[in-house]
Order: sequence, then C-alpha cells, then structure tokens
Amino acid sequence: MSRRFLFVTGSSRPDGNTELLARRAAEQLPAGVEQQWIDLAAHPLPDFEDLRHDADHVRPTEGNVALLLDATLAATDIVIASPLYWYSVSAHTKRYLDYWSGWLRTPGVDFKATMAGRTLWGVTALAHKEQVVADPLVGTLNHSAAYMGMSFGGVLLGNGSKPGDVLHDAEALTRAKSFFAREAPLARFPYDD
Ligand SMILES: Cc1cc2nc3c(=O)[nH]c(=O)nc-3n(C[C@H](O)[C@H](O)[C@H](O)COP(=O)(O)O)c2cc1C
Repeated sequence: MSRRFLFVTGSSRPDGNTELLARRAAEQLPAGVEQQWIDLAAHPLPDFEDLRHDADHVRPTEGNVALLLDATLAATDIVIASPLYWYSVSAHTKRYLDYWSGWLRTPGVDFKATMAGRTLWGVTALAHKEQVVADPLVGTLNHSAAYMGMSFGGVLLGNGSKPGDVLHDAEALTRAKSFFAREAPLARFPYDD
C-alpha cells in the first residue's frame, strides 16, 4: 500500500504555529507520498454523542463526520497537528479522537482492524519553553496508538505563542526536516515494558 498522510489540524486559529511546523515537516515527504490536510476548525464535527451501544447507528455518509472517517480510513499515516491547550490536545482534536470510539463500534466499519499497523504522529506548538509540559499530549497520542494497535512516530514539538513564532525555533525546524523519516515503532503502553 503506498503511503498516504492525513494531516488533521486542530488549532482554533488559522495559520498558527502548529500548522506551520507540520507543513515544514510535510515538505520533506517524498513526492510520491500523498498528503491530505483537513482543518477541524473549518470542518467542525458536531458534539460527539456516545451511540456505541445503540443497535441502530449507521455509518455516516455525508458531512464532516463522513469526510473525516473516510479520510482516516484511507490514510496509512495520521498526523495529529494540535496546539498544546492546557497541556493536552485542543478541543477540536479531542472531539475528533472521541469519534474514533464511535467508529470502533460502527457497523460496516472495521475501524480497529483497518487502523492496526498504521502509524500515528503528532505535531504540536506550545508557549512554554520546557517541552516536558507537553507530556500529557504525548501520552494521549501514544496510548491511543497503543490501544489501536498502531505504530507511533512521536511528537514534533515547537515553541511559540503568537502565529509565526515557531519559525524562530531553529531546533524545531531542524527536527522537522527529518521527523517523518524516523522509525515509528509499534506503540506500547508503559506497563508493557
Ligand atoms: C486555550 C489555550 C490553551 C493553551 N494552553 C497552553 C498550555 O497548556 N501550555 C502552553 O505552553 N501553551 C498553551 N497555550 C499557548 C499555545 O499553545 C501557543 O500559543 C501555540 O503557539 C498555539 O498554537 P497555534 O498557533 O498552532 O494555534 C494555550 C493557548 C490557548 C489558546
């Protein structure tokens, strides 16, 4: 299967640091790798409703939910590009991930089996200088990948507060150059070690 990257951007403002950093990393992908970008703010998902145990819920066929489901299923690599909000992912991003729980139980969507073996990546921008404060976001993505049987490529972090700041984070820009070339091991929960 040729590689296809889905970039799911979750900032609450356009042209923010997270997307700038993600685009720097994406520039390095080989030309043959397909890229799809979906901005969650521009394609808002309705409030997540937990219908997992309702017998009559069906696969969405239209709207932003269907767009995101189809794009997610079609991707070999999913990049969660979320700013650090309160030490974790943004609300837009969290809602998208909540939908994954619904898709796990949606009839006709073999979501877990389809996602297993694919790769999850993260990109985030944060105002704090010490990157360790992003550990909850990193844990959210790592554990989600582990639950899904996915590989996890880690999180590309960049510093910045106002839009464009991350372009002054020279170390982040250097990391971006090789980020997607790194090996992405099968994600594991901490207790697996
Ligand atoms: C709601 C909200 C919560 C934030 N929480 C944090 C935080 O917990 N830690 C931090 O370092 N920066 C925090 N920030 C700052 C953003 O992470 C920072 O401005 C980042 O560059 C935003 O990324 P963006 O430009 O892609 O939107 C927060 C900003 C907002 C709007």
